[in-house]
Amino acid sequence: MKKNITRFSILASFFLLFSCNDNNKLTEVVEVPLPTKEEKITIGSPNDVKADPGSFELTKLPFTYDGLSPALRSLTLETHYSKHYLSYTNNLNKEIVSTEFENMPIEDILKKMPLSNLKLRQNAGGYYNHTLYFNILTPKEQTPKDTLAGSINKEFGSFNNLTNQFKGQAEKQFGSGWVWLVVDRYGKLQITTTEDQDNPLMKNALIPGTPILGIDLWEHAYYLDYQNRKGSYIDAFYGHINWEKVNEYYVEALKKVKKV
Ligand SMILES: [Fe+2]
Repeated sequence: MKKNITRFSILASFFLLFSCNDNNKLTEVVEVPLPTKEEKITIGSPNDVKADPGSFELTKLPFTYDGLSPALRSLTLETHYSKHYLSYTNNLNKEIVSTEFENMPIEDILKKMPLSNLKLRQNAGGYYNHTLYFNILTPKEQTPKDTLAGSINKEFGSFNNLTNQFKGQAEKQFGSGWVWLVVDRYGKLQITTTEDQDNPLMKNALIPGTPILGIDLWEHAYYLDYQNRKGSYIDAFYGHINWEKVNEYYVEALKKVKKV
């Protein structure tokens, strides 16, 4: 389904009528055209976005592009999903064709790939990070529940403390990168950061762990809506976290820890 948004279509004229009440009646009609430029923005549907054939496909966006509006408007979300995320996915698929990584789960690629392989590192990271990002967003504000809520209270003292620490790290992040909530190798929740499209599954992670929540701090994630007001974007993102989904990731991550 295509949704057309026509911002402005102004084709107007002002007619100014000047009259003189003398015998020689003078009527002057002046046509003053207003700007006639028609700006038409077409927003597509996330369901129409498909990666080129290959090992990995885009995660299905569980809402329409205007699902997070006004916090993140449709143009921001569409650009992010159908341009940036799609590009990482297609490039990853190209990079791994006929390599040892072709049929490997993305988590294993991230753990095993040499960091010196920059193209693979950027695109595998970009694919994984954005898949998580789009999976943990939701139109309606939530708070943590169940297992995760208990662990947050136990390990951070309160949900407020987690929020302040997470937002604080995101504010401090300089340049393009990500802030994560991860389950570390001991099963503990930790907040950590990575640069560019790196993530805590890679060999260079300061705090290695399984990400269960991540905020994209690249300007492409917010600049159309917030320009330099990164803090406003962080607040907007935080108000749309799908904590139910994050809890699912948390429970899965804990199972992996117990297997070690
Ligand atoms: Fe991004």
